[in-house]
This record gives sequence, structure tokens and C-alpha cells, in this order.
Amino acid sequence: MARKIVVTSGKGGVGKTTVTANLGVQLAKNGYRVIVCDLDFGLNNIDVVLGVENLASFDVVDVVEGRCRPKQALVRHPHYPTLYSLASNRISERYVSPQAVRLILDALAPRYDFILIDSPAGIDEGFHRAVACADEALLVTTPHISAMRDGARVAGMLKSYHLQRVGLVVNMVRADLVRRGELLKPEEISEALHVPLTVVVPEEDKIFLDNVADRCRSFRLLANFYTGGIAGSEGKKKGFFGGLFGALHR
Ligand SMILES: Nc1ncnc2c1ncn2[C@@H]1O[C@H](COP(=O)(O)OP(=O)(O)OP(=O)(O)O)[C@@H](O)[C@H]1O
Ligand SMILES: [Mg+2]
Repeated sequence: MARKIVVTSGKGGVGKTTVTANLGVQLAKNGYRVIVCDLDFGLNNIDVVLGVENLASFDVVDVVEGRCRPKQALVRHPHYPTLYSLASNRISERYVSPQAVRLILDALAPRYDFILIDSPAGIDEGFHRAVACADEALLVTTPHISAMRDGARVAGMLKSYHLQRVGLVVNMVRADLVRRGELLKPEEISEALHVPLTVVVPEEDKIFLDNVADRCRSFRLLANFYTGGIAGSEGKKKGFFGGLFGALHR
């Protein structure tokens, strides 16, 4: 039965879609059957990040409105055969209830290991729809005050859901600025948000999906956090900062 993990943030543009897509790729590379579900109606772009845009005949709204069955809306990734994408819909004003989406994901869940849900920023209707479909959440923030402040609001909202686990990704961290005291340490951010730190992702010049597993240790650590693999214990041994500095000095 798939674990359903929603990736959320307070502020926009902090890296939810990047984290969702790369975690999905990494889990699929490790042999897990993964659906990446785009519930960011209107600003949906995970199909583009995954490189499967224009491949979907149906999207999640087609399933909700009965034009196809849930399985028909899935697009298998051309490079990663156990990775599937469930596209969102550009018509942002259409009302889609959390219950309707939940039913679809529950129907798909038995045949997959993970359903990763990309959500819109903030705490509006789209946030509630996405979180209501999930068992666990991953909050993404950058080390900047405005992102953290909005992230704290989301962390507070997440507490009202019966989630099994909430994790924290601190994205776009520059270790040189942290060392010089110009950026908060990820551990301090975790304490401020009252959410345990799951992984630190360094700021990269470019995040290429194709070679992310080689280039970015952070997503390997994140995938292993969810599956308890070898890199997970490596991460624990070195600490998250060890991982971060290692990634920066590759
Ligand atoms: N660690 C990183 N280093 C450098 N650039 C990054 C990093 N993470 C994400 N980005 C870039 O930042 C931009 C925003 O990322 P992304 O689209 O994943 O954010 P988002 O939270 O999904 O945004 P939105 O709220 O609009 O959905 C993208 O151009 C992405 O490539
Ligand atoms: Mg996004």
C-alpha cells in the first residue's frame, strides 16, 4: 500500500516541485513504484520538471469527473519505468473536493509504494486538498526569513491533520554563508519551526533531473530516509551538515 507524502511550503518558489520530482526519481531508481501527483492546480509544472509534458491524455480532473479511470491518467516515465506522473489541470478555478482526490489516490495506492503529492504554496484550498489526501508531509523552506515565517504557518496548520510524520527540507542552503553566520543553520530553522530536520539541499547552479542522483547526495539521503537504506545510515553518521558540505565539495 503506497505511503502518501505531501510536499508543501508556506512561500512559493522554495523548491517543492524540485524536491517532489527528484525524490520521485530517486525512489524509482531504487526500484520503488512511485506516482508523482501534481495537485498544484493552475501553476502545475511537475510534468515539465519530470520531462513528461504533453504525454498525458488525461489529468486528475478527468478522473474526478469520470472521463477516465485513475490508471488511465497515469503517464509512465520514459526513462524510469516504475515512475508515474498524474498530471494536474490548468483550470485553477474548478472546484475539486479533497474527498474526490483522496478516493482516486486510495484506488491507486495498493499497486504502488509511494504517492508523492506536489501542492501549491500557502494555506488556501489547494493546500487543504493536498494535505487531506496524505498520510505524511514534507515541509520545504529556504533559510530566508520570509520563507521561514510562512513555513511556520504551514507547520502550525499541519498539526491539525492526523499525519503520521512531518519532515523538513531546508533547500537552497549555501554552506559558505552558513559558516559566516549570514544564514541560519538548518538545525536552528528546524527548532524555530518545531519540525524535525530531514535533509538539507544545497543551492546549486543548476538542478538537472537526469543526473541528479550523481550530483546531489541530498536527494539520495532523502529517498533513503523514507526507505531506510544504506545512504540513510551514512547520512546519520555524518550528520546533515556533513552531507551538505560533502555535496558542496563534490
Ligand atoms: N537547491 C536548489 N538550488 C538551485 N535552484 C533551485 C534549487 N531548488 C529549486 N531551485 C530552482 O528554484 C525554482 C523554484 O523551484 P520549484 O519550482 O521547485 O519551487 P516550488 O516551491 O515548487 O514553486 P511554486 O510555489 O511556484 O510551485 C526553480 O527554478 C528551481 O529549478
Ligand atoms: Mg511547484
